Amino acid sequence: MILMNDFKAEPPELREAMMVAVRRVLESGWYVLGNEVATFEAKWAKLCGVSHGVGLGNGMDAIEIALRGLDIGPGDEVITTSMTAFATVLAILRAGATPVIADIESESALLSLESVKRCISKHTKAIVLVHIYGQMRDMELWQDFCHENGVYLIEDCAQAHLATWRGKVAGSFGVAGAYSFYPTKNLGAQGDAGMLVTQDIGLAERAERLRNYGQSERYHHPELGMNSRLDEIQAAMLIERLSWLHSFTERRDYIAAAYRDGIKNSNVNQLSRPQEASAHVHHLYVVTSRHRQDLQSHLLGLGIQTLIHYPIPIHKQKPCMAFKSDPKGLKVSDGHAAECLSLPCHPQLTDNEIAKVIDGVNSFGIK
Ligand SMILES: Cc1ncc(COP(=O)(O)O)c(C=O)c1O
Repeated sequence: MILMNDFKAEPPELREAMMVAVRRVLESGWYVLGNEVATFEAKWAKLCGVSHGVGLGNGMDAIEIALRGLDIGPGDEVITTSMTAFATVLAILRAGATPVIADIESESALLSLESVKRCISKHTKAIVLVHIYGQMRDMELWQDFCHENGVYLIEDCAQAHLATWRGKVAGSFGVAGAYSFYPTKNLGAQGDAGMLVTQDIGLAERAERLRNYGQSERYHHPELGMNSRLDEIQAAMLIERLSWLHSFTERRDYIAAAYRDGIKNSNVNQLSRPQEASAHVHHLYVVTSRHRQDLQSHLLGLGIQTLIHYPIPIHKQKPCMAFKSDPKGLKVSDGHAAECLSLPCHPQLTDNEIAKVIDGVNSFGIK
């Protein structure tokens, strides 16, 4: 079976380096928020081109903590996309704020600025811009729009590790970037992990408190926080995996280029090309088809696993049905959710497997 992710096929040198890292932590006798976390935070913040990184339990908490750290909560509206992981919206809700759901652009599935313009109100405090599938686009437009409207730009970078737009890295455009290191992400831990990156020292210090029960110094709690601390073992393994991220991203880009050039089937549509190559790190390679279910079954029959990101847009999820949203509706999100299909695009895919996926998609026909 050609899998969506295949961790067991990772290079033995990487596995070995991770074992050494685990041993290093076990022998240190320090397991939560220590030197490994501090080292990883500094490395990741530097790569993102910002001054601060705050290691957290997961990517969802990074969004919640960014919002809470900016004093966004009850009575405040936060605009985001309907085509995202549920975690994006759950984080807004957990901060106590009100999500407002905007539509996407059909050619990229990224948040539509036109739709956001229809959603903005005097209560809007932030936009959570999701770099979905690994892509970024028109970041100056988003920065200008947020600036003109006096709202914060928060980037959900969970799928866009180190993607760059005009030389600047994901997470460095807004007041905060929220990264997830869930195992399947481009840089993944062996469990849950996340980070908030920011240029704002005040926000970074607040996030450090919020992740640790709101504690300022030992046993002093000037505010209510949460427990979202990063483990030393995860940080140590992430440091090792970081040395492989560049080559893994190159491999993803290679696979994406092969799919883009090789897939030729009138029943299958491609999303638009990234405006610049580095602005897409191909966390997912997504095509659309009006015959999605048949295409998925056809590929499964050929031993090719696929997934759907995402089959149910946020506004159709039970707890979200009454949410405020674009007055013109969310038709593009609905259409995309009905037709999108993610093909295997992980760095361990062999050339032979890539060719099989292309042939598999091209051999799909409607009876
Ligand atoms: C777009 C997006 N946002 C947020 C998250 C949440 O990250 P985590 O699973 O680390 O909480 C994810 C990952 O699932 C994601 O893909």
